[in-house]
Order: sequence, then C-alpha cells, then structure tokens
Amino acid sequence: MEKQPLNIRPRRLRKSPILRDMVAETRLSREMFIYPYFVVPGKKIKHKIDAMPGIHHFSLDQLLFDVEKGMNSGVNKILLFGVGEKKTGDASSSFSNNSIVVKAVKELKRKFGEDLFVITDVCVCAYTTHGHCGILNDGYVHNDSSVEVISKMALAHAMAGADMVAPSDMMDGRISAIRGILDKNRLENTSIMSYASKFASAYYGPFREAADSAPQTGDRKSYQMDFRNAREALKEALIDEQEGADILMVKPALAFLDIISQLSLNTLLPVACYNVSGEYAMVKAASERGWIDEPKIVMENMHAFARAGAGIIISYHTRQMFESGWL
Ligand code: PBG
Ligand code: ZN
Repeated sequence: MEKQPLNIRPRRLRKSPILRDMVAETRLSREMFIYPYFVVPGKKIKHKIDAMPGIHHFSLDQLLFDVEKGMNSGVNKILLFGVGEKKTGDASSSFSNNSIVVKAVKELKRKFGEDLFVITDVCVCAYTTHGHCGILNDGYVHNDSSVEVISKMALAHAMAGADMVAPSDMMDGRISAIRGILDKNRLENTSIMSYASKFASAYYGPFREAADSAPQTGDRKSYQMDFRNAREALKEALIDEQEGADILMVKPALAFLDIISQLSLNTLLPVACYNVSGEYAMVKAASERGWIDEPKIVMENMHAFARAGAGIIISYHTRQMFESGWL
C-alpha cells in the first residue's frame, strides 16, 4: 500500500527549545506567587517546622529580617499566620489589637510600606482551646457567633494595616459580614481573598502541627467541604463572589485542579489556589530521599495550577523557587 502523506505532525512544534517556548500555553511569572509565614510571640525565635523543611516559626524580629531577605529575591506578597497565642473558648486573643499578627502587620507595613503586600489569614482555630475554626455550642461549630468573632479578627488585622484579609474558616455569610464591618470602619479599600472552596482535607496535616491548630475533638467536616463535591464547590465560590469577595481561592490545589478549572470558567474574579502543607511535605520528603527531582516536580506542579486556571498561587515553595532561580 502507498504511504499516505503525513500533513499534520504535532511534533513539529516541539522541535527546539525556542519553538517550544514560543508555543507554550502557560507562562508563570513571579508576580503570581504568595509566600506564607508563621509568626509567634517572643524574641529571637526561628524554629524549624518538622514536616515542612525550609519553613519556620519566626518571632517578629526574625520575621522582619527574613522578609527583607525574601524581598531581595522578589518575594513581595506574604500570607501571615499567627501561632502560639493564648487559647480560649471564645477565641478572644484572635481579635485583640495586641495580637502577634497585629503587631507584625504594623511593623511590616511601617518598615516596607507599599513594597510589601501583606495578607493575613483570618481564622480562629489556632486561638481556641478546642481547635475548631469557630465557636463551639453543644459540640457544634455555631455559624453566626463564629462569624461575629471572625469579623472582629478581620477588622483588627485591617486596622493594623493589612492590605488584604483572607478568611479560611468556611462559615456561611462571613464574606458579607467582613465586608460590612470593614466598610463601616472606613476600610473599604482593604480587599478580601476568600478561601471560597476549601475542602476538609488530610493535606493540611503538617500545617496543623505548625499552627498548633488541630481540632481536639471531631473533624472539620461540618464546615469545610466534602471532597466528593465539585458543583457544591462552585456554589460556595459564587456565593462568596456575591457577598463581595475580591479573589476566590481553591484549597488544596493538587488534588483539586478540576475545581480550579471549573471555577475559572465560572467567575470573573481572579482565582487563587493554595498549594498546601501536605502537598509541600510530599515533595520535600520524596526529594530528600532522592526519589524525585525537586525543581522539576515543583515547576510541573506550579504550571499545572496555572494551566488549570489559577492566576495566583500560594506556595511554601515560593522562596526557594525564586532564590534558586527555578522561575
Ligand atoms: C486555618 C487554616 C488551615 C490552613 C490554612 N488556614 C488549616 C485547616 O483548615 O485545618 C491549611 C494550610 C496548609 O495546610 O498549608 N483554618
Ligand atoms: Zn481554621
């Protein structure tokens, strides 16, 4: 039989690096990345976090030092978590105007101004004795009283000068409550990045050790989402959009690329994803054993997030990616 001419040869476009770069559909840039930080009360503290190699607890003095170092390689957006404050049933230390997060925000903004964009995580699980992301009532996380506390926490952070607050609690109605309380206090330009579609996930394991925020009883399934649900994830995100969120986040990221993708096709807001602690720990553990090539795996993951539709990526890899020139 005569050989048919092969007119369509997709491999033609993969012939050389320059050509591959030209036709690449996904391009990452440093502007997309947010780097998380854990800040603790005290002085001269820089403690390693076991299951998150390269990530530390910093006291404020050390945090300032480390942030400055990161800024030199382009890390100019950070997400702050407060750890080690007094834990109570009513989470009162979470909305104190003297909390370590408030102090850190003030100091960071005083020192770096517009050169550093400061986002704070807003949730009370590191501030409650029971470790739940809200106020317990008869063993159930009561929605509306939780929203009240969470709004006060967001207000404290915003008054301190946070550029953006990021509620991660998954209570109903918290975006409009936070928007309301911020606006009432003339903080209408403080933006809100909502952890909009946040799933109850085993991928948060290392973080809970880092933040000392594991629930003492039960789990988070009565407020965080069921990972079997995709349509509900869209519902959650679109409600937050209606309530006034500025950015919608999907979390975790790697196992939820379909959610990132669907959300990006169904909202006009920027879409972010959180490459969480367990995802980070898996990559670190395997690469420490020499089982995977860390820079290659990390960059493959980052491109996957962007290809799925995330324009903003929160990742513990950010610092190393920038400093080692992987991006
Ligand atoms: C607090 C919070 C969590 C994470 C971000 N904010 C933990 C949780 O919900 O249990 C997870 C971050 C990570 O795993 O890297 N609500
Ligand atoms: Zn929480």
